[in-house]
Amino acid sequence: MITITKQQEMLEFLHLYKTEKQQSDAWLTKRIAQIELMGEYIPTTEELTFGARVAWRNSNKCIGRLFWSSLQVFDEREALDAHSVFEALLRHIRFATNEGRLRPAITIFHPTRVRIFNHQLLRYAGYETADGVIGDPHSVEFTEVCLNLGWQPAGTAFDILPLVIQIDNGAPVFYEIPAEDVLEVDIAHPEHEEIADLQLKWYAVPIISDMRFNCAGIDFQAAPFNGWYMGTEIGARNFADEKRYNLLPRVADVLKINRDSNLSLWKDRALVELNVAVLHSFKEAGVSIVDHHTAAHQFKLFQELEGKEDRNVTGNWTWLVPPMSPATTHIFHQPIPNLILKPNYFYQSRPY
Ligand code: ARG
Repeated sequence: MITITKQQEMLEFLHLYKTEKQQSDAWLTKRIAQIELMGEYIPTTEELTFGARVAWRNSNKCIGRLFWSSLQVFDEREALDAHSVFEALLRHIRFATNEGRLRPAITIFHPTRVRIFNHQLLRYAGYETADGVIGDPHSVEFTEVCLNLGWQPAGTAFDILPLVIQIDNGAPVFYEIPAEDVLEVDIAHPEHEEIADLQLKWYAVPIISDMRFNCAGIDFQAAPFNGWYMGTEIGARNFADEKRYNLLPRVADVLKINRDSNLSLWKDRALVELNVAVLHSFKEAGVSIVDHHTAAHQFKLFQELEGKEDRNVTGNWTWLVPPMSPATTHIFHQPIPNLILKPNYFYQSRPY
């Protein structure tokens, strides 16, 4: 049974597909008749590929959308046991990593039968201790889940979490990601050698794995996707937020920036050098990354291209402005409508 709204979203999607893929009226009629005969809409891989790319194009929080049409789509709807899902995830990680020349990709699993517990496929654990969190505070709850499943951590500030996979609402299973599949970058500053003493590193590929891919009235609850990092995500948020690695005081101290008064702008100065170090280190390691000025410029090209196609670019201003020097980018100076188009990627409630 297809409900009215699902039916409507399916039709809207097929119309969009028809327009953008330049299909005939006859094609649409035939496709709809086919679906009615089956009593259920199961997208073809081509439809899913188009849908996943358009969902990226419609992602209002993403500054990197210029590259939406190059998204590589892996259709893994047939993977219905935990080990097959794990292997598909490893294939995704390897394809996306590509020895540092990162490739945007999404792996789409069965809409309802597969669930991935991880926030990102690659992520550092966080352990609550008597003197604060070791590792990434963002991961504390999920790390607990992994420990309860029997995962044995090394206990460093940068332990890659295992993949946690659930099939048909059964007991979740965890799999360690082989170390050789995890590309990481050690952080050093081009001039200030002291930054390397902090022994920081970050993983190369951000692969969001907890959002649902909504396409043609269907929710795919497991559809991990990746692009590449913008430097500030690591340098101005993951490393800098007080509720994350909270490194600005230590960075200021190794750089001998006086922290006695706010008006020395020690936080801002530490932030700039830390972000220089992140961009420099990724570049040196041959790992794709984009600085926020270049990313904003690419977003402008995206806006221009979309304008030429007579499509309105939607966006969430609060996310699109970078967390450093926002007013140096054009995005800061223009309003953008935060209208939600579909297909798209949405948050969903946590399975744990
Ligand atoms: N901000 C997240 C992080 O720091 C990653 C979100 C996706 N980012 C991306 N460039 N595709 O891990």
